[in-house]
Amino acid sequence: MTEKATDTGKVSYGRREVTPAEKTRLVQNVFAKVAARYDTMNDIMSLGTHRLFKPMAVEMTGLAKGDRVLDLAGGTGDMTALLRPVVGDNGLIILADLNADMMRVGRDRLLHSGIADVSYCRVRAESLPFRDQMFNAVTISFGIRNFTSKETALDEICRVLKPGGVLVVLEFSHPDNPLFADLYRGFQTLWPAFGKRVVGDEEPYRYLVESIEKHPRREALALMFEDAGFSNVTHHPLAGGVAAIHRGVKP
Ligand SMILES: C[S@@+](CC[C@H](N)C(=O)[O-])C[C@H]1O[C@@H](n2cnc3c(N)ncnc32)[C@H](O)[C@@H]1O
Repeated sequence: MTEKATDTGKVSYGRREVTPAEKTRLVQNVFAKVAARYDTMNDIMSLGTHRLFKPMAVEMTGLAKGDRVLDLAGGTGDMTALLRPVVGDNGLIILADLNADMMRVGRDRLLHSGIADVSYCRVRAESLPFRDQMFNAVTISFGIRNFTSKETALDEICRVLKPGGVLVVLEFSHPDNPLFADLYRGFQTLWPAFGKRVVGDEEPYRYLVESIEKHPRREALALMFEDAGFSNVTHHPLAGGVAAIHRGVKP
């Protein structure tokens, strides 16, 4: 299942069908609401496992000192913090996101931990304001699920990568074991209640659960990478398929 616009021009926002413009606005609102408590909720809902997955994704970029990397949908900056030492002082890192509130929290957190040399850019992944072949790698951590059009975003990412450049996507996925899948679904039913308690609003966390449910299976997402022109596409399930890392290379 993809977010591709249907014949009616609608895309899915969780379980609802909305226009692409409406989806962008709704996703923008979701992250504006959660920005201040996003990191706390992330730790609660993932039981801290996102902290293990993110270094794995960074490792899979194969980045070296002096390289240029785009942390797309970078939000509150976890990936940027890990990528900064990898590309070193001569490297370039841009944290780009749709939502200014998420980036503000991210910039404050990064500055607080002594990471100043980062550029911030408000973007829509579907229309990137960067020149062709600019980056050695693009990372997206828990962002692609929310994009209004994954297909258009993947085309754009391919455009801004150098030949040989790498896209690494860390995202929720679907557990393979049916018993574990049931258990995990049970755990997810608690997320809106956690959201209500921590953020004061359960609606963003209903959307979160629905957006995970609608997210393509690993094989389908890999095919989308290939359709956008990526080669050597691989995917790696994490924690029994709760999450996955997809990797593709621009030929
Ligand atoms: C779940 S957060 C992930 C933040 C961070 N990368 C992490 O791993 O913690 C998803 C981010 O995707 C951003 N986003 C959603 N749709 C986007 C789009 N079309 N273009 C760029 N960023 C988008 C949101 O604003 C939000 O900051």
